[in-house]
Amino acid sequence: DERHGSSQNEIKMSNETERRVENLLSRAQSNNNASASTSTVSMRQSLPSTSTSIAESTTYVDKQKLSFQLRDMQRSKKMMPSARSMQSFREKLPAFKAREEFLKAVAANQVLVISGETGCGKTTQLPQFILEEEIDNLRGADCSIICTQPRRISAISVAARVGSERGEELGETVGYQIRLESKRSTQTRLLFCTTGVLLRKLVQEPDLVGVSHLLVDEIHERGMSEDFLIIILRDLLPRRPDLRLVLMSATINAELFSKYFGDAPIMHIPGFTFPVAELFLEDILEKTQYKIKSERDNFQGNSRKKRLASVKNDPLADIFEDVDISKEYGNYSITTRQSLEAWSVTELDLSLVEGTIEYICRHEGEGAILVFLTGWDEISKLLDKIKGNNLLGNSNKFLVLPLHGSMPTVNQREIFDRAPANMRKIVLATNIAESSITIDDVVYVIDCGKAKETSYDALNKLACLLPSWISKASAHQRRGRAGRVQPGVCYRLYPEVIHAAMPQFQLPEILRTPLQELCLTIKSLQLGAVASFLAKSLQPPDPLSVKNAIELLKTIGALDDLEELTYLGRHLCTLPLDPNIGKMLLIGSVFQCLDPALTIAAALAYRNPFVLPIDRKEEADAVKRSFAGDSCSDHIALLKAFEAWKEAKRSGRERSFCWENFLSPMTLKMMDGMRNQFFDLLSDIGFVSKTRGVKAYNHYGKDLEMVSAVLCAGLYPNVIQCKRRGKRTAFYTKDVGKVDIHPSSVNAGVQQFPLPYLVYSEKVKTASIYVRDSTNISDYALLLFGGSLRPSNTGEGIEMLGGYLHFSAPKRIIELIQVLPPRSTVITPTK
Ligand code: CDP
Ligand code: MG
Repeated sequence: DERHGSSQNEIKMSNETERRVENLLSRAQSNNNASASTSTVSMRQSLPSTSTSIAESTTYVDKQKLSFQLRDMQRSKKMMPSARSMQSFREKLPAFKAREEFLKAVAANQVLVISGETGCGKTTQLPQFILEEEIDNLRGADCSIICTQPRRISAISVAARVGSERGEELGETVGYQIRLESKRSTQTRLLFCTTGVLLRKLVQEPDLVGVSHLLVDEIHERGMSEDFLIIILRDLLPRRPDLRLVLMSATINAELFSKYFGDAPIMHIPGFTFPVAELFLEDILEKTQYKIKSERDNFQGNSRKKRLASVKNDPLADIFEDVDISKEYGNYSITTRQSLEAWSVTELDLSLVEGTIEYICRHEGEGAILVFLTGWDEISKLLDKIKGNNLLGNSNKFLVLPLHGSMPTVNQREIFDRAPANMRKIVLATNIAESSITIDDVVYVIDCGKAKETSYDALNKLACLLPSWISKASAHQRRGRAGRVQPGVCYRLYPEVIHAAMPQFQLPEILRTPLQELCLTIKSLQLGAVASFLAKSLQPPDPLSVKNAIELLKTIGALDDLEELTYLGRHLCTLPLDPNIGKMLLIGSVFQCLDPALTIAAALAYRNPFVLPIDRKEEADAVKRSFAGDSCSDHIALLKAFEAWKEAKRSGRERSFCWENFLSPMTLKMMDGMRNQFFDLLSDIGFVSKTRGVKAYNHYGKDLEMVSAVLCAGLYPNVIQCKRRGKRTAFYTKDVGKVDIHPSSVNAGVQQFPLPYLVYSEKVKTASIYVRDSTNISDYALLLFGGSLRPSNTGEGIEMLGGYLHFSAPKRIIELIQVLPPRSTVITPTK
């Protein structure tokens, strides 16, 4: 099933998509793990409840009592057999030798930077050392340690690990909290949470009162939330002289952070890794010849496909032109730029990966294999391939495990445990295994050399999420994963020239993503003017990106002229979503179109479920058109396709339905999960009631005109004016002028549109600027739902804040806008 899931249109309008998808999807699963100590708390309930509540509500005597209790408990649990065997594992970790020095340094310095080889025990040990020390010294009652993780999957797995090292159930002294879910209790003294959760805590508690120690993990990744958090913390430290801050990083660039915090001391934890040999593609092809040969026909067939689907915006693409690696490896040769370009994601890579796995299994010694891929699609495809094709002969001999943020957390132990005797463990992972999750028994690493990365072009206001080449630092990290228990081998599925041309470090996320969501957070935290706040960043973003973000927020009505949050803005702050998508959901629920809004928002936040098979393009286009009917809307097409899929699923025809209609079952499934999460988020902020369900907010869900209007609300200011030019229609946007409709759109080639405007979800720049998915909308939809509306000075018309249009609207409509609905009021659309 080749077509499915090999989506070539991964351009995104939202930033941080991958992480968010991970975040949203693992929730349902983790909920199933509920135990007695579990509480699924809503954000509202959980926000004020740091452990301060105990500290404040109890008397001095009570506190003393509690401290003694905690100490006795710690002592007795440590004596349990399970904890004792864990203890000997702990003592072997490099972090253990640094224990005393670390605790001294924490006591003596407000800020401490720790660098240490991945796997040396930073995340699981250092917060635990503090916890043990505080409890032992009868300071347990007053101690509240928070350790942030960039991803929810690591917050959960680390908390579970530390809990079991202490011989406890998760949620006793060690707990976790991630969006919409937590496992903690009044006893909890060490909390692992996502960086996002901490940022939301800061809204309620700007001084982090009650928190005694804060550890910020994985700062070397330079994620946007972490970069943002440390600006806030640097300002906060003088107000909280008793707060201890520990920044933890892999052995990358620790000096940078130390400098940022006024030359804070750096402590390095030396780690030991075995040497890891590295092979580049050239070597691998030579070694695995037999495999590639048999794949040859297949490869040639695909290469044409790949050429067409070539990677855009690839900074390294240019070097291919000059590179001539035209050596012949068996029947496989790399001669042209195209075949190198073809190296993005799918079949070619996977057959190489398969070949390499097979080679290792046949010719190399024991040891687990860790494969780095770019995303869920590849992982599940390879999983199917290995299982289905019986690629490796007897499949009983292999334990193939996926490792991705959206995975159920229940199977986690398998990832860390050794495979049963006579079985080879093969872990298929995203870059999550690069530094946040360590699998000890890995001896072979297979590295595709890419990771999904957002990039933002401030000039053209274009944001993309595409697999792109990793940095040398990441490649080094990945290689290092093979040397934990014995000397290892790293198979790099790219030529050495590519490695040489890789950047030293990855660009920090704050410099390569749209900033609107971050700007909203800055506003909700009342951190002052956005631009001057962000100028304090470790590496300040381009002022143009900041300006774009603020302009956009004003245009969609989240900020007013003075850059203050509007009512809409305040609601948007509480949704961890791209503001445009958030707005679509809010308006969708208010205007009783929630069901379609959820589906379309899920597709926008994740990806379009339609696949683009290059060889059967016409058929695929026809299918999409039939879903769209006469709506002139790609979004309606995907909505109808989703609904039809649900129907097909009910009658057990899912597979054939997807195949016949050129839809990716994986994407549809993902969207379905995200719809649930979005609904939970809306109920979390009080916009909908969970018990009433989606149906209660869907009175106009079948009214496509209403749906288009809601789409307009979410996609504004992505508006195109359709102008007749003789027999043809020309398309204009306000910011970049003339654009074209992408050939894959149902609106491509439409002679005359029934309505004067289109809204679109993304534009891409190739030969010219194309808009991909678009929907034809009326001027009234634009008038009522586009941007933020206010009566013009004369009182006779409506001025769109974006200045896109100037209407003279009937008085009645002006009045209608002035009393824009309080939430849950239903307004009958005026037609
Ligand atoms: O944070 P750092 O990379 O320095 O190391 P860590 O995550 O604290 O891991 C230390 C050790 O604990 C490694 O050998 C991991 O394999 C092991 N570990 C585990 O077995 N299970 C977990 N859930 C987490 C860590
Ligand atoms: Mg770690």
